[in-house]
Amino acid sequence: VKQGASFNLYEYIQEIITSLKTEIDAAGHDLEIDCPANLHIFSYPDSYAQIVSNLLLNSLHHAYDEGTIGKIHVEIKYNGNLKIRFNDDGVGIPLNEQKKIFDPFYTTRRGIGGKGLGLSVVYNQVTQKLNGSIRCISSPGNGSSFIIEIPENDLVRPTAAIEKEV
Ligand SMILES: Nc1ncnc2c1ncn2[C@@H]1O[C@H](COP(=O)(O)OP(=O)(O)OP(=O)(O)O)[C@@H](O)[C@H]1O
Ligand SMILES: [Mg+2]
Repeated sequence: VKQGASFNLYEYIQEIITSLKTEIDAAGHDLEIDCPANLHIFSYPDSYAQIVSNLLLNSLHHAYDEGTIGKIHVEIKYNGNLKIRFNDDGVGIPLNEQKKIFDPFYTTRRGIGGKGLGLSVVYNQVTQKLNGSIRCISSPGNGSSFIIEIPENDLVRPTAAIEKEV
């Protein structure tokens, strides 16, 4: 059973990104993280690690044609609930595929490294572990956005540190 912990979400996301640095640097895209530096939450750090790393790896693996330099933007806001907006400006996902992307074993990369598990893990962590919701907004040629909303009751003790530090 995974334990909850008190942690600084901004710093934790930096750590996740550091752990993927080799792959991010090799791809050469522009990665921007917008998150309040003092966002302390009580939650499940491991869930956030899986969510952020799977979404990021998907953008690296699926969003860009060889030689294209993209922009990946992760925006995190706390405002009564926690909202994570993960955005790339890559090839996008057609509507008929969007219905299937959260299903386990759905992949367009079968046989070339895709198991089709990344987004189903993200979905399960968001909806079951964090009691939140996730949706995809995308269209071919217009990139992909994943909007995650996590209600405050699951942050348990959301922003004690924010008020102190502002
Ligand atoms: N950012 C994205 N841009 C374009 N397509 C995407 C993006 N993210 C996901 N997809 C599509 O959704 C499918 C499912 O993603 P998912 O992460 O579940 O599996 P995978 O990445 O193919 O394999 P795995 O995550 O197990 O390595 C992908 O195969 C791809 O077609
Ligand atoms: Mg994946």
